[in-house]
Amino acid sequence: MKKKITLLVSAALFCLSTFTLADEITLYSHRHYEYDKVLFKKFSDETGIKVNVVKAGADELIERLKAEGDNSEADLLMTVDAGRLQRAKAAGLLQPVESKLLSERIPAAYRDSEGSWFGVSMRARILAYAKDRVELGELKSYEDLADPKWRGRIVVRSSSNIYNQSLMASIIAEHGVDDARVWAQAVRKNMARPPQGSDRDQIRAVAAGLADVAIVNTYYVGLLINSSEPKDQTVGKGTGIFFPNQSDRGTHVNVSGVGVTKASKNSEAAIRFIEFLVSDEAQAGFPQVSHEYPIVEGAPWSGLLDSWGEFKTDSLELGRLGELNAAAVTVFNEAGWE
Ligand SMILES: [Fe+2]
Repeated sequence: MKKKITLLVSAALFCLSTFTLADEITLYSHRHYEYDKVLFKKFSDETGIKVNVVKAGADELIERLKAEGDNSEADLLMTVDAGRLQRAKAAGLLQPVESKLLSERIPAAYRDSEGSWFGVSMRARILAYAKDRVELGELKSYEDLADPKWRGRIVVRSSSNIYNQSLMASIIAEHGVDDARVWAQAVRKNMARPPQGSDRDQIRAVAAGLADVAIVNTYYVGLLINSSEPKDQTVGKGTGIFFPNQSDRGTHVNVSGVGVTKASKNSEAAIRFIEFLVSDEAQAGFPQVSHEYPIVEGAPWSGLLDSWGEFKTDSLELGRLGELNAAAVTVFNEAGWE
């Protein structure tokens, strides 16, 4: 009997919470992928909660949140890098939230221990290489890219890019700033050209024979293979994929993640949104549409991700990427990596 009453009460509470959920949430997003539109529409269809998306660079969104303070319309901040979320947390812009579902579904390394942000999809920063010019066994690790055997053979984008800054932060976490600087100087010397362009441009440069190895995020290879441009499809299909550091700490990974803002007046609906992003349905779409890895263990991969194979990931807590970001920028500058 007691059980029955508890059930009734919790059912009533559930209805009440559903009724009191906001019918609109505002998301500040730095994500730039087509999949998000599909995803947000699905969420709205299922919950009746409309998602207003404000898109800008992560730094710009963080500055905006600071300026708006408690008056901000934003309920959620979404970025393509855990380092930026950690920075937003440090600036007091995110609120800790508790969700049993989120803690259960997202591995601890990929979310903030206090619930200020949660990774929802994962990407690895890998080596894309020319299959006809790089020999089997030649590729090993990020560290090995400093070897003179790579002179004139590497392409990578500018150090102002957050993906490179987070990779550098992971190298500093492993080796310290002094060794990281020596590494960056040597890699800079081995570059086929000064850093320029996007990750996709680096893969295109390898395909064009300008260089043999590019440091890029996994999903860009998937985007090229599935491009509407036949030329890019050829580039993507011809590219070799190598996961570095498999014999030691594992490949550097990062997440797209999201946190509830301190200013949010609709935190229940905002949490519901994050929970939707890690639902089976949403997770299954990340590999298929944006070629990212799902964050939830056991969620299905795509045929393409399966073809690249399982790999060991660097187990560094992603919050460290934000804490070491300033050091990473300094090391790049000192090393002359533009
Ligand atoms: Fe990206």
